[in-house]
Amino acid sequence: MGCARRAGSQRLVWVPLEHAGGGYFQVERRTIGAAALEVGAIGLGCMPMSWAYTGSQQRGDESVRTVHAALDRGSTLLDTADMYGPFTNELLLGRVLKERRGDAFVSTKCGLLVGEQHVVANGRPGYVKRACDASLRRLQTDTIDLYQLHRADPEVPVEETWGAMAELVGAGKVRALGLCAVGARATRRGRAGLHAGTIRQLERVQQVFPVSAVEAELSVWSPEALETLLPWCEARGVGFLAAMPLGNGFLTGTLTPGQGFEPDDLRARHPRFTAEMMAANQPIVAGLRRIAARHGEAVTPAQVALAWVLGRGRHVVPVPGAKRERWAAENAAAAELRLTDRDLAEIGELPRARGSWD
Ligand SMILES: NC(=O)c1ccc[n+]([C@@H]2O[C@H](COP(=O)([O-])OP(=O)(O)OC[C@H]3O[C@@H](n4cnc5c(N)ncnc54)[C@H](OP(=O)(O)O)[C@@H]3O)[C@@H](O)[C@H]2O)c1
Repeated sequence: MGCARRAGSQRLVWVPLEHAGGGYFQVERRTIGAAALEVGAIGLGCMPMSWAYTGSQQRGDESVRTVHAALDRGSTLLDTADMYGPFTNELLLGRVLKERRGDAFVSTKCGLLVGEQHVVANGRPGYVKRACDASLRRLQTDTIDLYQLHRADPEVPVEETWGAMAELVGAGKVRALGLCAVGARATRRGRAGLHAGTIRQLERVQQVFPVSAVEAELSVWSPEALETLLPWCEARGVGFLAAMPLGNGFLTGTLTPGQGFEPDDLRARHPRFTAEMMAANQPIVAGLRRIAARHGEAVTPAQVALAWVLGRGRHVVPVPGAKRERWAAENAAAAELRLTDRDLAEIGELPRARGSWD
């Protein structure tokens, strides 16, 4: 993962298939952020392996195979956080990294603590430094490629937290810094101005140390980041990690309205995942399925959804979450799918997603 390339650039590289049967294949790499970090165009979100989805924690060995499958196919960016589990997701990745550190780009996050009833922010400098050491131990590595602030602590000026994170770069424990903005909340009346607070925070931390990446929700059914956050990143060479690019699985077309979710699954409380709203939003999946069919029998709605996200800018890297090998391979292959003008026009005309609060 060289550092000589310009932020926002992309290139194709040949990757050996030594872990998957021999030979070589071509993958796209993208260069992001102030530190010019090169990563596979599609990453792997590791959260569903340990947190927030039905069946998390029950598929440890399969999850490890999934991480290998992603790396084999050039999905180098592994996105985790100390709070996923909590802690078990980093431990799981550590099992892979101890053998394949050179193949991976590690993105983890600090600043959120999981309690019995609540998740609380902690941005105190001393805490952040201890959290980093603990993440390094769990991940079985000496360096984190991208260290993200998961959520700013309202009790601590964000500049202080960011200053402590910058010291971690100086100490060689971290290569670059990022800000996770997934917690940005829409008001019940609409999603306008969703990222205004995030941008204010970004402007403040940029005064202290350069931001290399922002992680926020972006997908066919949640395109709000296109309005202000994505252009802000593009203008500054800041990478954009697209979280939830598959709409928490909905856009893959593999979920059935009314199927129900376990109480520990984030979709059990999500306004777009009631039986009624899943049914109401089916035209979005049908549209993706129609486009996929035009590209061939093997192409899936998930791949169309990811190709759309990838096409939003050369600084954008989707991090689809998956705990199954099959999904990781399918998602990595979406980097090869080129959507046509007709496809893009059809996606643009899909109905707006509805949630039970609309
Ligand atoms: N959700 C959040 O609040 C949040 C917050 C901060 C950061 N992030 C980061 O963003 C990443 C992505 O978000 P996410 O994982 O919440 O949502 P997502 O990527 O939109 O969707 C993940 C879900 O889609 C399923 N899936 C993945 N690929 C599939 C395919 N090809 N076909 C059918 N189903 C497929 C997964 O199933 P299986 O689990 O069964 O494999 C999982 O249930 C996270 O993993 C995390 O690293 C998320």
